[in-house]
Amino acid sequence: MAQIDIQNVQKFFGHLQVLKNLNLTIADGEFVVMLGQSGGGKTTALRAIAGLESVTSGKILINGTEVQHRKASDRDIAFVFQSFSLYPHMTVRENIAFPLRAVRMNATDRDKAVKEVAEILQIAEHLDRKPSALSGGDMQRVAIARALVRRPQALLMDEPLGVLDAKLREQMRAEIKRLHIARGSTSVYVTHDQIEAMSLADRIVILHDGVLQQVGAPDEVYLHPTNLFVAKFVGSPVMNVNGVRIEGQRVRLNGADASFSFPDEALASVRSTQADLALGARPEAVLLEHQQTEGFVEVVTTNIEPLGSHDIVDVRLGDAVLRARTPSGFVSGEGQRVWARLDPAQAHFFDTASGLNLRGAN
Ligand SMILES: Nc1ncnc2c1ncn2[C@@H]1O[C@H](COP(=O)(O)OP(=O)(O)OP(=O)(O)O)[C@@H](O)[C@H]1O
Ligand SMILES: [Mg+2]
Repeated sequence: MAQIDIQNVQKFFGHLQVLKNLNLTIADGEFVVMLGQSGGGKTTALRAIAGLESVTSGKILINGTEVQHRKASDRDIAFVFQSFSLYPHMTVRENIAFPLRAVRMNATDRDKAVKEVAEILQIAEHLDRKPSALSGGDMQRVAIARALVRRPQALLMDEPLGVLDAKLREQMRAEIKRLHIARGSTSVYVTHDQIEAMSLADRIVILHDGVLQQVGAPDEVYLHPTNLFVAKFVGSPVMNVNGVRIEGQRVRLNGADASFSFPDEALASVRSTQADLALGARPEAVLLEHQQTEGFVEVVTTNIEPLGSHDIVDVRLGDAVLRARTPSGFVSGEGQRVWARLDPAQAHFFDTASGLNLRGAN
Protein backbone atom coordinates (compact mmCIF):
# COMPACT_ATOMS: atom_id res chain seq x y z
CA MET A 1 0.00 0.00 0.00
CA ALA A 2 1.08 3.52 -0.49
CA GLN A 3 0.96 7.20 0.20
CA ILE A 4 0.72 9.27 -2.97
CA ASP A 5 2.00 12.85 -3.14
CA ILE A 6 1.20 15.13 -6.02
CA GLN A 7 3.35 18.26 -5.91
CA ASN A 8 2.94 21.34 -8.12
CA VAL A 9 1.83 19.26 -11.08
CA GLN A 10 1.16 21.09 -14.33
CA LYS A 11 -0.07 19.37 -17.45
CA PHE A 12 -0.33 20.91 -20.89
CA PHE A 13 -1.75 19.34 -24.03
CA GLY A 14 -0.20 21.71 -26.58
CA HIS A 15 -1.27 25.15 -25.43
CA LEU A 16 -4.15 23.83 -23.33
CA GLN A 17 -3.35 23.68 -19.64
CA VAL A 18 -5.37 20.83 -18.19
CA LEU A 19 -3.87 20.59 -14.68
CA LYS A 20 -2.99 23.84 -12.94
CA ASN A 21 -0.55 23.52 -10.09
CA LEU A 22 -2.12 20.45 -8.56
CA ASN A 23 -1.09 19.64 -4.97
CA LEU A 24 -2.55 16.72 -3.08
CA THR A 25 -1.46 14.09 -0.57
CA ILE A 26 -3.39 10.84 -0.50
CA ALA A 27 -2.76 8.91 2.70
CA ASP A 28 -1.95 5.23 2.85
CA GLY A 29 -5.24 3.31 2.81
CA GLU A 30 -7.32 6.36 2.05
CA PHE A 31 -10.26 6.38 -0.39
CA VAL A 32 -10.18 9.65 -2.29
CA VAL A 33 -12.83 10.58 -4.84
CA MET A 34 -12.09 13.12 -7.57
CA LEU A 35 -15.26 14.90 -8.50
CA GLY A 36 -15.92 17.51 -11.14
CA GLN A 37 -17.57 18.43 -14.40
CA SER A 38 -16.62 16.99 -17.73
CA GLY A 39 -13.28 18.30 -18.96
CA GLY A 40 -12.15 19.32 -15.47
CA GLY A 41 -8.99 17.22 -15.63
CA LYS A 42 -10.00 14.21 -13.51
CA THR A 43 -8.95 11.51 -15.96
CA THR A 44 -5.74 13.36 -16.77
CA ALA A 45 -4.86 13.57 -13.06
CA LEU A 46 -5.56 9.87 -12.57
CA ARG A 47 -3.58 8.86 -15.66
CA ALA A 48 -0.70 11.02 -14.49
CA ILE A 49 -0.62 9.20 -11.13
CA ALA A 50 -0.64 5.85 -12.92
CA GLY A 51 2.03 6.88 -15.42
CA LEU A 52 -0.27 6.51 -18.42
CA GLU A 53 0.24 10.23 -19.06
CA SER A 54 3.36 12.31 -18.51
CA VAL A 55 3.27 15.54 -16.51
CA THR A 56 4.66 18.78 -17.94
CA SER A 57 6.22 19.72 -14.60
CA GLY A 58 5.94 18.89 -10.92
CA LYS A 59 6.44 15.71 -8.94
CA ILE A 60 4.51 12.56 -8.17
CA LEU A 61 5.76 10.50 -5.24
CA ILE A 62 4.75 7.05 -4.13
CA ASN A 63 5.83 6.29 -0.59
CA GLY A 64 8.26 9.18 -0.79
CA THR A 65 9.93 8.10 -4.04
CA GLU A 66 9.63 10.28 -7.14
CA VAL A 67 7.96 8.34 -9.92
CA GLN A 68 6.98 11.00 -12.44
CA HIS A 69 9.66 9.77 -14.85
CA ARG A 70 8.90 6.09 -14.34
CA LYS A 71 6.88 3.98 -16.74
CA ALA A 72 3.41 2.86 -15.69
CA SER A 73 4.63 -0.71 -15.37
CA ASP A 74 7.22 0.39 -12.80
CA ARG A 75 4.74 2.16 -10.53
CA ASP A 76 2.77 -0.87 -9.34
CA ILE A 77 -0.55 0.92 -9.62
CA ALA A 78 -3.70 -0.74 -10.95
CA PHE A 79 -6.22 1.07 -13.11
CA VAL A 80 -9.89 0.28 -13.73
CA PHE A 81 -11.40 2.01 -16.76
CA GLN A 82 -15.00 2.93 -17.45
CA SER A 83 -15.22 0.40 -20.28
CA PHE A 84 -14.69 -3.11 -19.02
CA SER A 85 -11.77 -3.89 -21.34
CA LEU A 86 -11.66 -7.63 -20.62
CA TYR A 87 -10.04 -10.14 -22.99
CA PRO A 88 -13.06 -11.68 -24.73
CA HIS A 89 -11.40 -14.96 -25.69
CA MET A 90 -10.24 -15.70 -22.13
CA THR A 91 -12.36 -17.05 -19.30
CA VAL A 92 -12.98 -14.94 -16.21
CA ARG A 93 -10.32 -16.97 -14.40
CA GLU A 94 -7.77 -16.29 -17.15
CA ASN A 95 -8.68 -12.62 -17.27
CA ILE A 96 -8.16 -12.20 -13.54
CA ALA A 97 -4.96 -14.28 -13.56
CA PHE A 98 -3.46 -12.33 -16.45
CA PRO A 99 -1.46 -9.79 -14.39
CA LEU A 100 -0.10 -12.68 -12.27
CA ARG A 101 1.08 -14.56 -15.36
CA ALA A 102 2.84 -11.39 -16.44
CA VAL A 103 4.91 -11.47 -13.23
CA ARG A 104 5.38 -15.27 -13.59
CA MET A 105 3.63 -16.29 -10.39
CA ASN A 106 3.38 -20.09 -10.14
CA ALA A 107 0.08 -21.80 -10.92
CA THR A 108 -0.79 -22.78 -7.35
CA ASP A 109 -0.31 -19.30 -5.94
CA ARG A 110 -2.06 -17.82 -8.93
CA ASP A 111 -5.11 -20.03 -8.44
CA LYS A 112 -5.24 -19.14 -4.77
CA ALA A 113 -5.01 -15.40 -5.43
CA VAL A 114 -7.66 -15.55 -8.16
CA LYS A 115 -10.06 -17.50 -5.94
CA GLU A 116 -9.59 -15.14 -3.04
CA VAL A 117 -10.29 -11.98 -5.00
CA ALA A 118 -13.16 -13.65 -6.90
CA GLU A 119 -14.78 -14.53 -3.61
CA ILE A 120 -14.49 -10.99 -2.27
CA LEU A 121 -16.11 -9.73 -5.47
CA GLN A 122 -18.72 -12.52 -5.52
CA ILE A 123 -17.83 -13.80 -8.97
CA ALA A 124 -16.37 -17.16 -7.95
CA GLU A 125 -19.17 -19.05 -9.70
CA HIS A 126 -18.37 -17.32 -13.01
CA LEU A 127 -14.67 -18.21 -13.14
CA ASP A 128 -15.01 -20.61 -16.07
CA ARG A 129 -17.27 -18.40 -18.15
CA LYS A 130 -16.31 -16.04 -20.93
CA PRO A 131 -16.92 -12.29 -20.33
CA SER A 132 -19.64 -12.23 -23.01
CA ALA A 133 -21.77 -14.47 -20.79
CA LEU A 134 -21.70 -11.97 -17.91
CA SER A 135 -23.91 -9.03 -16.94
CA GLY A 136 -22.42 -5.53 -17.02
CA GLY A 137 -22.03 -5.48 -13.26
CA ASP A 138 -20.21 -8.83 -13.23
CA MET A 139 -17.94 -7.70 -16.07
CA GLN A 140 -16.90 -4.70 -14.03
CA ARG A 141 -16.40 -6.93 -10.98
CA VAL A 142 -14.00 -9.01 -13.10
CA ALA A 143 -12.16 -5.85 -14.19
CA ILE A 144 -11.81 -4.78 -10.55
CA ALA A 145 -10.71 -8.28 -9.55
CA ARG A 146 -8.06 -8.23 -12.27
CA ALA A 147 -6.83 -4.86 -11.01
CA LEU A 148 -6.68 -6.01 -7.40
CA VAL A 149 -5.35 -9.52 -7.76
CA ARG A 150 -1.69 -8.64 -7.58
CA ARG A 151 -2.20 -6.40 -4.55
CA PRO A 152 -1.03 -3.19 -6.17
CA GLN A 153 0.31 -0.21 -4.24
CA ALA A 154 -2.82 1.72 -5.18
CA LEU A 155 -6.03 1.21 -7.09
CA LEU A 156 -7.19 3.94 -9.47
CA MET A 157 -10.71 3.82 -10.90
CA ASP A 158 -11.99 6.11 -13.63
CA GLU A 159 -15.80 6.18 -13.56
CA PRO A 160 -15.92 2.41 -13.16
CA LEU A 161 -19.70 2.38 -12.78
CA GLY A 162 -20.39 4.89 -15.53
CA VAL A 163 -22.03 2.52 -17.98
CA LEU A 164 -24.17 0.65 -15.48
CA ASP A 165 -27.83 1.35 -14.77
CA ALA A 166 -28.82 3.26 -11.64
CA LYS A 167 -29.78 0.25 -9.52
CA LEU A 168 -26.62 -1.67 -10.31
CA ARG A 169 -24.51 1.43 -9.68
CA GLU A 170 -25.95 1.68 -6.20
CA GLN A 171 -25.27 -1.97 -5.49
CA MET A 172 -21.73 -1.83 -6.90
CA ARG A 173 -21.05 1.34 -4.95
CA ALA A 174 -21.72 -0.54 -1.73
CA GLU A 175 -19.52 -3.41 -2.91
CA ILE A 176 -16.62 -1.15 -3.77
CA LYS A 177 -16.85 0.35 -0.31
CA ARG A 178 -16.92 -3.10 1.28
CA LEU A 179 -13.98 -4.16 -0.84
CA HIS A 180 -12.04 -1.12 0.21
CA ILE A 181 -12.71 -1.85 3.86
CA ALA A 182 -11.64 -5.49 3.35
CA ARG A 183 -8.48 -4.72 1.40
CA GLY A 184 -7.61 -1.25 2.67
CA SER A 185 -5.98 -0.31 -0.63
CA THR A 186 -5.12 3.32 -1.26
CA SER A 187 -7.79 4.20 -3.80
CA VAL A 188 -8.48 7.11 -6.09
CA TYR A 189 -11.87 7.05 -7.72
CA VAL A 190 -13.04 9.45 -10.40
CA THR A 191 -16.67 10.34 -10.94
CA HIS A 192 -18.90 13.24 -11.86
CA ASP A 193 -21.69 11.74 -9.77
CA GLN A 194 -21.74 13.61 -6.49
CA ILE A 195 -23.86 11.00 -4.71
CA GLU A 196 -21.25 8.37 -5.55
CA ALA A 197 -18.58 10.75 -4.26
CA MET A 198 -20.42 11.48 -1.00
CA SER A 199 -21.08 7.82 -0.28
CA LEU A 200 -17.64 6.41 -1.09
CA ALA A 201 -15.08 9.00 -0.13
CA ASP A 202 -12.95 9.47 2.94
CA ARG A 203 -12.13 12.75 1.25
CA ILE A 204 -13.52 14.38 -1.87
CA VAL A 205 -11.27 16.35 -4.20
CA ILE A 206 -13.15 18.79 -6.39
CA LEU A 207 -11.45 19.72 -9.65
CA HIS A 208 -12.77 22.39 -11.96
CA ASP A 209 -11.03 23.60 -15.07
CA GLY A 210 -7.78 21.96 -13.92
CA VAL A 211 -7.83 23.80 -10.59
CA LEU A 212 -8.32 22.05 -7.28
CA GLN A 213 -11.28 23.78 -5.63
CA GLN A 214 -11.58 22.00 -2.30
CA VAL A 215 -10.42 18.87 -0.52
CA GLY A 216 -12.39 17.59 2.43
CA ALA A 217 -14.54 14.93 4.02
CA PRO A 218 -17.96 14.64 2.34
CA ASP A 219 -19.83 16.47 5.09
CA GLU A 220 -17.19 19.19 5.21
CA VAL A 221 -17.54 19.83 1.48
CA TYR A 222 -21.32 19.77 1.77
CA LEU A 223 -21.58 21.97 4.85
CA HIS A 224 -18.63 24.28 4.26
CA PRO A 225 -18.14 24.78 0.52
CA THR A 226 -15.19 27.10 -0.02
CA ASN A 227 -16.63 28.74 -3.11
CA LEU A 228 -19.67 29.03 -5.33
CA PHE A 229 -18.52 26.32 -7.71
CA VAL A 230 -18.34 23.71 -4.93
CA ALA A 231 -21.54 25.01 -3.35
CA LYS A 232 -23.48 24.56 -6.57
CA PHE A 233 -21.78 21.36 -7.71
CA VAL A 234 -22.25 19.37 -4.50
CA GLY A 235 -25.78 18.70 -3.28
CA SER A 236 -28.97 17.79 -5.05
CA PRO A 237 -31.18 19.66 -5.60
CA VAL A 238 -28.72 22.48 -6.11
CA MET A 239 -28.16 25.07 -3.39
CA ASN A 240 -30.24 28.24 -3.78
CA VAL A 241 -27.92 31.07 -4.78
CA ASN A 242 -29.43 34.55 -4.90
CA GLY A 243 -27.87 37.97 -5.15
CA VAL A 244 -28.58 39.83 -1.87
CA ARG A 245 -28.29 43.18 -0.12
CA ILE A 246 -27.73 43.59 3.60
CA GLU A 247 -30.14 46.14 5.08
CA GLY A 248 -29.21 46.57 8.74
CA GLN A 249 -30.23 43.31 10.42
CA ARG A 250 -32.03 42.09 7.36
CA VAL A 251 -31.06 40.28 4.18
CA ARG A 252 -32.99 41.09 1.02
CA LEU A 253 -32.81 38.78 -1.99
CA ASN A 254 -32.52 40.75 -5.23
CA GLY A 255 -35.98 41.20 -6.70
CA ALA A 256 -37.69 40.16 -3.47
CA ASP A 257 -40.53 42.18 -1.98
CA ALA A 258 -39.60 41.19 1.58
CA SER A 259 -36.43 40.60 3.59
CA PHE A 260 -35.25 38.08 6.18
CA SER A 261 -34.07 38.93 9.65
CA PHE A 262 -30.60 37.60 10.53
CA PRO A 263 -28.91 37.70 13.94
CA ASP A 264 -25.99 40.09 14.25
CA GLU A 265 -23.30 37.40 14.44
CA ALA A 266 -24.52 35.81 11.22
CA LEU A 267 -23.82 39.08 9.41
CA ALA A 268 -20.51 39.94 11.09
CA SER A 269 -18.30 38.74 8.23
CA VAL A 270 -20.22 40.58 5.51
CA ARG A 271 -21.30 43.79 7.20
CA SER A 272 -18.21 45.76 6.27
CA THR A 273 -17.60 44.30 2.81
CA GLN A 274 -18.02 46.34 -0.35
CA ALA A 275 -18.37 43.17 -2.44
CA ASP A 276 -21.48 42.17 -4.33
CA LEU A 277 -22.93 39.34 -2.29
CA ALA A 278 -24.75 36.15 -3.10
CA LEU A 279 -26.53 34.17 -0.44
CA GLY A 280 -26.39 30.38 -0.61
CA ALA A 281 -28.95 28.26 1.17
CA ARG A 282 -29.63 24.59 0.58
CA PRO A 283 -33.29 23.60 0.24
CA GLU A 284 -33.23 22.23 3.80
CA ALA A 285 -32.19 25.70 5.03
CA VAL A 286 -35.40 27.22 3.63
CA LEU A 287 -38.02 26.67 6.33
CA LEU A 288 -41.74 26.85 5.58
CA GLU A 289 -44.79 27.27 7.82
CA HIS A 290 -48.48 27.14 6.96
CA GLN A 291 -49.35 30.02 9.30
CA GLN A 292 -47.95 33.48 9.73
CA THR A 293 -45.04 32.99 12.14
CA GLU A 294 -42.63 35.37 13.85
CA GLY A 295 -39.54 35.89 11.64
CA PHE A 296 -41.18 34.31 8.56
CA VAL A 297 -42.19 36.21 5.41
CA GLU A 298 -45.14 35.54 3.19
CA VAL A 299 -44.40 33.70 -0.06
CA VAL A 300 -46.36 31.89 -2.79
CA THR A 301 -45.70 28.31 -3.91
CA THR A 302 -45.02 28.00 -7.63
CA ASN A 303 -43.90 24.44 -8.27
CA ILE A 304 -43.87 21.20 -6.32
CA GLU A 305 -41.66 18.19 -6.99
CA PRO A 306 -42.86 15.20 -5.00
CA LEU A 307 -39.87 12.90 -4.45
CA GLY A 308 -41.45 10.25 -2.27
CA SER A 309 -39.48 10.71 0.93
CA HIS A 310 -39.85 14.49 0.74
CA ASP A 311 -40.97 17.30 -1.57
CA ILE A 312 -39.06 20.14 -3.16
CA VAL A 313 -41.26 23.23 -3.15
CA ASP A 314 -40.46 26.40 -5.08
CA VAL A 315 -41.66 29.60 -3.45
CA ARG A 316 -41.75 33.09 -4.91
CA LEU A 317 -41.29 36.36 -3.05
CA GLY A 318 -41.54 39.18 -5.57
CA ASP A 319 -39.26 38.17 -8.45
CA ALA A 320 -37.01 35.98 -6.31
CA VAL A 321 -37.47 32.22 -6.08
CA LEU A 322 -36.28 29.82 -3.36
CA ARG A 323 -36.46 26.03 -3.33
CA ALA A 324 -37.41 24.47 -0.01
CA ARG A 325 -37.26 20.88 1.16
CA THR A 326 -40.44 19.88 3.01
CA PRO A 327 -42.02 16.68 4.32
CA SER A 328 -44.09 14.92 1.63
CA GLY A 329 -47.43 16.57 1.04
CA PHE A 330 -46.60 19.56 3.26
CA VAL A 331 -47.83 21.90 0.54
CA SER A 332 -50.87 20.72 -1.38
CA GLY A 333 -50.48 22.70 -4.58
CA GLU A 334 -49.19 25.64 -6.52
CA GLY A 335 -50.34 29.19 -5.85
CA GLN A 336 -50.64 28.55 -2.12
CA ARG A 337 -49.69 31.20 0.46
CA VAL A 338 -47.11 29.97 2.98
CA TRP A 339 -44.48 31.60 5.21
CA ALA A 340 -40.74 31.19 4.76
CA ARG A 341 -37.57 31.80 6.75
CA LEU A 342 -33.90 31.21 6.00
CA ASP A 343 -31.99 29.37 8.70
CA PRO A 344 -29.04 31.71 9.35
CA ALA A 345 -26.97 28.82 10.72
CA GLN A 346 -27.18 27.11 7.32
CA ALA A 347 -26.74 30.20 5.15
CA HIS A 348 -23.56 31.14 3.29
CA PHE A 349 -22.47 34.48 1.90
CA PHE A 350 -20.33 34.46 -1.23
CA ASP A 351 -18.39 37.25 -2.87
CA THR A 352 -20.05 37.23 -6.29
CA ALA A 353 -16.89 38.34 -8.12
CA SER A 354 -14.38 35.89 -6.61
CA GLY A 355 -16.91 33.21 -5.71
CA LEU A 356 -15.31 32.82 -2.29
CA ASN A 357 -17.38 31.87 0.72
CA LEU A 358 -17.11 34.77 3.17
CA ARG A 359 -18.68 32.95 6.04
CA GLY A 360 -18.99 29.18 6.15
CA ALA A 361 -22.14 28.08 7.95
CA ASN A 362 -21.13 26.79 11.36
N1 LIG B 1 -4.67 13.38 -25.11
C1 LIG B 1 -5.21 14.60 -25.10
N2 LIG B 1 -4.88 15.54 -26.00
C2 LIG B 1 -5.39 16.78 -25.98
N3 LIG B 1 -6.30 17.21 -25.06
C3 LIG B 1 -6.69 16.32 -24.13
C4 LIG B 1 -6.18 14.97 -24.10
N4 LIG B 1 -6.75 14.33 -23.05
C5 LIG B 1 -7.58 15.21 -22.47
N5 LIG B 1 -7.54 16.41 -23.11
C6 LIG B 1 -8.28 17.62 -22.72
O1 LIG B 1 -7.99 17.89 -21.37
C7 LIG B 1 -9.12 18.39 -20.67
C8 LIG B 1 -9.38 17.54 -19.44
O2 LIG B 1 -9.74 16.26 -19.85
P1 LIG B 1 -10.01 15.06 -18.85
O3 LIG B 1 -10.33 13.88 -19.68
O4 LIG B 1 -8.89 14.96 -17.89
O5 LIG B 1 -11.30 15.58 -18.07
P2 LIG B 1 -12.31 14.79 -17.14
O6 LIG B 1 -12.46 15.62 -15.92
O7 LIG B 1 -11.85 13.39 -16.96
O8 LIG B 1 -13.65 14.84 -17.99
P3 LIG B 1 -14.83 13.72 -18.14
O9 LIG B 1 -15.70 13.89 -16.92
O10 LIG B 1 -15.53 14.13 -19.38
O11 LIG B 1 -14.21 12.38 -18.24
C9 LIG B 1 -10.25 18.40 -21.68
O12 LIG B 1 -10.34 19.70 -22.20
C10 LIG B 1 -9.78 17.42 -22.74
O13 LIG B 1 -10.33 17.75 -24.00
MG1 LIG C 1 -12.68 11.56 -17.50
